[in-house]
Amino acid sequence: MMLIQFKVNGKSYSIDVCPTMRLLDLLRDELGLTGTKEGCAEGECGACTVIIDGEAVNSCLVLASQVRGKEIITVEGLGEDGKLDILQQKFLEHSAVECGFCTPGMLMSAKALLMKNPHPTEEEIRLAIAGNLCRCSGYSQIVAAVKDAAKG
Ligand code: FES
Ligand code: FES
Repeated sequence: MMLIQFKVNGKSYSIDVCPTMRLLDLLRDELGLTGTKEGCAEGECGACTVIIDGEAVNSCLVLASQVRGKEIITVEGLGEDGKLDILQQKFLEHSAVECGFCTPGMLMSAKALLMKNPHPTEEEIRLAIAGNLCRCSGYSQIVAAVKDAAKG
């Protein structure tokens, strides 16, 4: 076991982890943050996307031990005081959610984009979510929602 310290959604944690534990399992199983989903478990679907120090990352490909000292944002960290984040609001308004399995990952990839680039082009939006698969084929609504969120 190894002791690691890190932050998730602004809260500090100090936890003993097994060296082979994935960040995805740390979030879901140890911290109870089950909004982050497991799809393929091999970096192909983006369902497990979280933001680490400002970058969208597939948490199934990261070891828990690699987040020592880092700041993580999960889908639970979007929005404040019971109010939805603008991206969540726009996903609802554009009916960009069908089964919802891809949604947390989509939101986090889009959030990472808007954190770096508040006014992205459609091409930049499509590129940012290129690693997020939606088997319900809701891409048009998702892109429209992110575009709208970027308008403020
Ligand atoms: S579960 Fe991580 S990319 Fe699919
Ligand atoms: S809404 Fe079902 S996978 Fe995207």
